Amino acid sequence: MEGDDVAYLEAARTVDARAHSDAATDAFRAALRNDEGDSSGGVAVFEAGAGTCGMLRRLLADGALPAGEWVAVDADERVLSAGRERLRAEAGAAGYAVAEADDDLLLRDPDGGVLRVRFAVGDARTVAADRGGGFDGVVARSFADLLDPDDVLGLLRTAAPGGWYHLPLTFDGETRVSPPHPADDPVIEAFHGTMRNRGRAATLLAERFGEAGSPPSVDARSDWVVEAATDRGEEAEDDGKGTDRGAGAAYPAGEAAFLRTLLDTVVAAVRESGAVADATLSGWAETRGSQLERGELGYVAVNRDLFGRVP
Ligand SMILES: C[S@@+](CC[C@H](N)C(=O)[O-])C[C@H]1O[C@@H](n2cnc3c(N)ncnc32)[C@H](O)[C@@H]1O
Repeated sequence: MEGDDVAYLEAARTVDARAHSDAATDAFRAALRNDEGDSSGGVAVFEAGAGTCGMLRRLLADGALPAGEWVAVDADERVLSAGRERLRAEAGAAGYAVAEADDDLLLRDPDGGVLRVRFAVGDARTVAADRGGGFDGVVARSFADLLDPDDVLGLLRTAAPGGWYHLPLTFDGETRVSPPHPADDPVIEAFHGTMRNRGRAATLLAERFGEAGSPPSVDARSDWVVEAATDRGEEAEDDGKGTDRGAGAAYPAGEAAFLRTLLDTVVAAVRESGAVADATLSGWAETRGSQLERGELGYVAVNRDLFGRVP
């Protein structure tokens, strides 16, 4: 990603929240409650690419934080420590007793259940190998498309036999930007060309899990959708006082910043690939930037939520 990763991940939170499929969320939360097994000791979860702890914070906000142990791993120390601080603050505000033990956070809910969150900076594959496995489940949101499918499978096998995986918001190689622009096809095609397997991670992973004997029990669409303000029936440019409100006001929460980062990332990746003539790419970037400022830019990325038993 181009720019500040903490700001980007925070700006993505409302987009992520809308995108999650109910089917995978329900299966994941049932697994966290361990409805079918012995839940007395709580659940043990390994999370790869935890970022600013968006998954834990979502569970907290929904009253669905489990008891047990959660290992949150990210290669980027800055985002993970920002996530740790936000999780600590939000848990305190939600009535949890928050304590520190070594570098871990202990979150005690008002009913006495405790979640121990361990934080590890490093490559998730190395940390998983070092921890030696035994987790009930492995979680990775907006992450599985970054690795080779075989590496993802290796990571999931950190779970104990019979364990589960939850891979929400896994990109699947399709991006749409609106309104149409004549250079969309070459720019988007070139952008996907810079990604591993042209970005078709969810399809490849579902196939790979099936070949290994355990296709996902839930495979559901979870697209990122940011509608243009004009498509939401709002006046993007005019606040009635004759002043331009700008992109920040035209999109909900921090979603203008989310779109800005995406545009910058697409343009930087395509420029580096050399697959599109500079003048064409610059024209596309300028038009898209102006549309963003006016609240006219719409964006869809096709994702899937994959949940199942680790093959
Ligand atoms: C798109 S972000 C998603 C963050 C978070 N899961 C969320 O949904 O908000 C991907 C994260 O994976 C991290 N990352 C990338 N490669 C990694 C690796 N090999 N091991 C651990 N973390 C990695 C990045 O630093 C980034 O924080």
